[in-house]
Amino acid sequence: MTQPDFIPEPYTSQIEKGSFKWSSPSNIALVKYWGKKEHQIPANPSISFTLDACRTTTLLSFEKKEASNGFSFEVFLEGDKKDDFKPKIETFFKRIEAYLPFLKEYHFTIDTSNSFPHSSGIASSASGMSALALCLMSIEKELVPEMNDEFFLQKASFLARLGSGSACRSLEGDLIVWGSHQEINGSSDLFGVKYPFEVHDNFKNYHDTILLVDKGEKQVSSTVGHNLMHDHPFAEQRFEQAHDNLSKLINVFKSGDIDEFIAIVESEALTLHAMMMTSMPYFILMKPNTLEIINKIWQFRKETGLHICFTLDAGANVHILHPENEAEAIFKFINTELVAYCQNGHYICDRIGFGAKQLPI
Ligand code: DP6
Repeated sequence: MTQPDFIPEPYTSQIEKGSFKWSSPSNIALVKYWGKKEHQIPANPSISFTLDACRTTTLLSFEKKEASNGFSFEVFLEGDKKDDFKPKIETFFKRIEAYLPFLKEYHFTIDTSNSFPHSSGIASSASGMSALALCLMSIEKELVPEMNDEFFLQKASFLARLGSGSACRSLEGDLIVWGSHQEINGSSDLFGVKYPFEVHDNFKNYHDTILLVDKGEKQVSSTVGHNLMHDHPFAEQRFEQAHDNLSKLINVFKSGDIDEFIAIVESEALTLHAMMMTSMPYFILMKPNTLEIINKIWQFRKETGLHICFTLDAGANVHILHPENEAEAIFKFINTELVAYCQNGHYICDRIGFGAKQLPI
């Protein structure tokens, strides 16, 4: 599939008004996307676990209006009007207009809610943009009734990417690859695809407990951070490393080697933050408690031999990853040793999930 394949033929069906509702999960990258080219093309391939509990639910209502030059929409978060969300959605609509030519023919009401607190510092752009992209595809499906499910999901991921890169990995589960990789047939810079190879039982039902270290607004947005990879002294080595780490993970997923999994995942997390610290201008998103938690995890792993590890996204929160069969001891450790480092003692228990769901209205 190439970019022109997502531009539709003139629509033959019509729809006056309606509404669609989708719930879409967040995801956590194992090999990180950090650095992008024009049109939201990633500088390197990434792979993520789709999550289950952390989700955005979006109800999109639409009604035909006179076609005009601008987009017409309102946004609500948990019932409250959110005009500060509008610029991001306006940018999204501009980027996808060529692929959804009906956008200016309707007035939209976007009603969205998150299963996690909005101010938790958890990226809601992945779940939010993928839920919105799916609602928009449900409209297109009415206009092109013969569209098949595979194309529906592929185009939804293609659109979600134009909203927020990592959002294209939030439609399906449980392991999603985004970005072209030599050894992964079908992988694409344009949309996320299901990881196509064997995955050992050790990685089924993997847990992700998210420790909320800092719920505040980030000082540097991901978009700014990605752009700082353009003149970054270590960019080329980093992009190559991401390709290598994804190659290594193919063997790890097959063999079930959790120790090697831990080495790759933790190195990816620290490399992501090392890229931030070595950008110009440089910045640090980790907080003192992020480091306290990492050291505690390393100590606990050494003492117990349990397969606990961490990863980070572009913020201070720590994602603790571990297999299902060690959950009891690890939850006990989190409760006794790590909760003290979380803001207001807050953390979220999540695990691998299987993607977005359409909900009845
Ligand atoms: C560190 O997808 O939020 O979480 O494309 O600019 O919206 P934009 O960036 P975004 O970047 C996420 C970066 C990351 C790593 C990852 O999820 O792969």
